[in-house]
Amino acid sequence: MHTLRVDLESRSYPIHIGSGLLSDATLYRPHLAGAQVMIITNETVAPLYLKALRSALTGHVVHEVILPDGEQYKTLDVWQRIFDALLAARFSRDCTVIALGGGVVGDMAGFAAACYQRGVAFIQVPTTLLAQVDSSVGGKTGVNHSLGKNMIGAFYQPRAVIADTATLATLPQRELSAGLAEVLKYGFIRDAEFLHWLEMQMPALLAREPAALAHAIRRSCEVKAEIVAADEHEAGQRALLNFGHTFGHAIETGSGYGNWLHGEAVGVGMCMAANLSARLGWLTATDVARTRQIIAAAELPLEPPSDLSAERFLELMAVDKKVLNGQLRLVLLRQLGTAVVTGEVAPEMLRATLS
Ligand code: NAD
Ligand code: GLY
Repeated sequence: MHTLRVDLESRSYPIHIGSGLLSDATLYRPHLAGAQVMIITNETVAPLYLKALRSALTGHVVHEVILPDGEQYKTLDVWQRIFDALLAARFSRDCTVIALGGGVVGDMAGFAAACYQRGVAFIQVPTTLLAQVDSSVGGKTGVNHSLGKNMIGAFYQPRAVIADTATLATLPQRELSAGLAEVLKYGFIRDAEFLHWLEMQMPALLAREPAALAHAIRRSCEVKAEIVAADEHEAGQRALLNFGHTFGHAIETGSGYGNWLHGEAVGVGMCMAANLSARLGWLTATDVARTRQIIAAAELPLEPPSDLSAERFLELMAVDKKVLNGQLRLVLLRQLGTAVVTGEVAPEMLRATLS
């Protein structure tokens, strides 16, 4: 097991990464507030991993909420079912909510933990690659709105992240690739050496070689933990973690939640951001070609849906959490491995990329 720390003073917490952690009672015990535990999971993950997690919680009063599976269910309506269960079971302020699943379950469970009785203890047990490298760390929680992705939510840090890499064995290949998009993101924005390592190791990662996956998860969490510790509420550099996301969120919202995987949309978004960075003279044509090659090597799509016009993209991109005073801000690359947030892109350049 490898343990990293997210350094947030009194709200600091460990990220445990390793194989077989799911049923290790000693990892949960220090972070459980009291006897009552509510596990939030979904109908796909429950049959695979709920029993193992429950075995780590013997001696506690354990209830569960099994949500329908899919991004299209990441809504306020479905989210309310968590409160129905917490209240029906008479759970008090010293209960603990545990998210068992991917980013959808994690974001919804975390937001419920933030709101139930104004905040109860929360533990993330991520079971997708995407959740292990990104969504379980950093405390962004929330749900989608039909007009915009993740537009309703809260910053609410977990007390611990317990990432059992053995759970990735059952992940569909398409979901593994979607997770690799967020792994590549860290290389593009912060670490050119890691990006090069990912290029070399892509076949091993796609084949789920344990050593390669463990290194990718660890390095991703290190970068994310460092950025979150420096800027928890996204006043500055945390926005860099949204590289590819403004385009990607527009694809997800515009094509109907659940049709494109989040990581797939981010992969295309990163290609679009690289294209725009080249128009600004920051990346060379070779950099853009290399970006596309790396993303293609992760078996991710490179082009947005053909029915999403430039006009529609602009409309969708206007509903983004980085918009300030009505101005769109984008994360672009100065070079491969260095990202900046800019509101200075000429409209005709953006339009050229979208077209
Ligand atoms: P997901 O939660 O939908 O999981 C993907 C699929 O894999 C689902 O069908 C799920 O049931 C299934 N699954 C989960 N674990 C499995 C396992 N071990 N074996 C087999 N199947 C398994 O999607 P995701 O890619 O994990 O997360 C995407 C979500 O995360 C999006 O809603 C996105 O907005 C959010 N997100 C949040 C943050 C954040 O900082 N909070 C960061 C990135 C993404
Ligand atoms: N996934 C972006 C962030 O956590 O800030």
